[in-house]
Amino acid sequence: MVNLGDIFPNFDAETTEGNFKFHEFIGNSWAILFSHPADYTPVCTTELARVVQLVPEFQKRGVKLCALSCDDVESHHGWIKDIVAYGKFDKFPYPIISDKTRKLAVSLGMVDPDEKDLAGMPLTARAVFIIGPDKKLKLSILYPATTGRNFDEILRVIDSLQLTAKHKVATPVDWKVGGKCMVVPSVKVEDEKTIFPKGVETISVPSGKSYLRMTEQPE
Ligand code: BEZ
Repeated sequence: MVNLGDIFPNFDAETTEGNFKFHEFIGNSWAILFSHPADYTPVCTTELARVVQLVPEFQKRGVKLCALSCDDVESHHGWIKDIVAYGKFDKFPYPIISDKTRKLAVSLGMVDPDEKDLAGMPLTARAVFIIGPDKKLKLSILYPATTGRNFDEILRVIDSLQLTAKHKVATPVDWKVGGKCMVVPSVKVEDEKTIFPKGVETISVPSGKSYLRMTEQPE
């Protein structure tokens, strides 16, 4: 298993766009590795098509995309034709890894024990790993096969990860780009003015503690 802050494994990937080492694929970008249970399944088709629609949004944020399932590359190529037709796209713009041996699925904790293929082999769940340019894991989420993901939420998370990597803020519930941010607890009161020249509003609470500090989103 990989924990937040760990260097993500630099595995050899067999993909629809050729073979590569995962770190070489990432380069100096951010990256998302996301798994799906199986090719030629309905929810997965809607998910991978939605990601195709959102490619310009991921590109704006400097994020590379890579999908994964335990099907072979030939199956991926066949299914891509269905996704392209379903979404009325011209082309399919990101690689899909073939994890035929399930080595990655097992080592990265992506296996869903409740979902099996016709041969009784367990399928991958819907995992999302967001990896930074430093190759460290910044976020992981795991959905069961029966629940499709919301990739607008993944974009929101990337906005938060990229902002909080640069500034001493955290993003509150339902935050969106441009919204107020919270000052992280490690910032001392005496340093607030220097770090946040636009000001800090401290919300008073019955405990008398000054931990609810809000500030404009830093640029
Ligand atoms: C689907 O993508 O529709 C799906 C795949 C595996 C189990 C359940 C649903």
